[in-house]
Amino acid sequence: MHEANRLKRLPLYLFTIIDGLKNEAINAGLDIIDLGMGNPDQGTPKHIVDELCKTAVMKENHRYSRPIDKSEIELRGAIAAWYYKKFGVSLDPKSEVLPLIGSKEGIAHLSLAFLNNDDIALVPNPAYPVHFNGVLIAGGILHNIPIYEKDGYLPNFQKIPNDIVEKSKLIFLSYPHNPTTAVANMEFFRDAVNWAKGKEIIIGHDLAYSDIAFDGYKAPSILQVKGSKEMCIEFHTCSKTYNMAGWRIGFAVGNRDIVKTLEKTKSYIDFGIFKPIQYATIKALSGPQTCVKRIIGIYKKRRDFLVSGLKEIGWDVPMPKATFYVWARIPDKYSALTSMEFVSLLIKETGVVIAPGTGFGEYGEGYVRFALVEDISRLKEGIKRIKRVLEMET
Ligand SMILES: Cc1ncc(COP(=O)(O)O)c(C=O)c1O
Repeated sequence: MHEANRLKRLPLYLFTIIDGLKNEAINAGLDIIDLGMGNPDQGTPKHIVDELCKTAVMKENHRYSRPIDKSEIELRGAIAAWYYKKFGVSLDPKSEVLPLIGSKEGIAHLSLAFLNNDDIALVPNPAYPVHFNGVLIAGGILHNIPIYEKDGYLPNFQKIPNDIVEKSKLIFLSYPHNPTTAVANMEFFRDAVNWAKGKEIIIGHDLAYSDIAFDGYKAPSILQVKGSKEMCIEFHTCSKTYNMAGWRIGFAVGNRDIVKTLEKTKSYIDFGIFKPIQYATIKALSGPQTCVKRIIGIYKKRRDFLVSGLKEIGWDVPMPKATFYVWARIPDKYSALTSMEFVSLLIKETGVVIAPGTGFGEYGEGYVRFALVEDISRLKEGIKRIKRVLEMET
């Protein structure tokens, strides 16, 4: 059996490689401290789980979910209300909101919905992998836009060659940014919208870390820019804000024609979201938000601890303003290694798992990413073990 060429074009998925290395370390008897995947380690807040349990026993909630069903109408309403409260942007729940089976699903399907074989999608590199993998699966042409530390990891739209822009149908943006933790201000989003205007280019903005921000920083929505509803769709997730990663729930909001086409694409592929998950999500979005504050507080403590701990052992890394990652240049001593080689060394020597920058694209080379998904005592232990590697004879 030969898999389709579109699958052959995909790079091996980062976490498949990391899982292999992790298993080898486990088999060698190492205790794993897993800071690899951005997979929240804390549970979903109780009032959300309670709503799932309450609605899961009702047999009317076991059927396929349809857009005209009560659960979906209420969920769209709750999303629009949450959005207005957070960003001051009004959305029509019926035509400008679309619940997703996780934002990753929606992002991948956006490419499938819009790209023909000769259409280009512009993707900043490094990026969250589905931004580029979705393009390849859809059979579109991927055009990487390298983004660099010196530019705050923001793309310069004016530098994209005209012949590329002319064939482009889609650009992905995502700030706060995974993996680099870079943030963007309203001026950047204004520039993006102005640039895309009149070009028939869709802007897909992935705002997965809308709530995970620190020190007074507030992540803007691209939909706050005047005129953005002409060409923007924004993706959100409950995975990070409410620790609901395994539930598979997210949503897209924005331009009604883009939303409609994405919805049409999905209607051929899935049957919506399990209704009890929809009801629980309504609780999450419209219930008390103290749980979100608590979750952010936990990540902030971990961030502070890891950044200062690494500094103490001689590894100076920037303090992120948002996301639950720390993005770090490979220590000088190991700068001759690729990020994958350095991560393999760390896993084999210490059992500490982090992600190599190249898992997010070739321009991630030279960097690694820590996910703050273990508690302080484990971070302390991890730093101790990393110190050993930094002091090792090479
Ligand atoms: C930038 C970004 N977008 C999307 C996702 C996927 O979120 P979801 O769980 O909603 O599919 C992630 C998960 O790590 C992410 O980092």
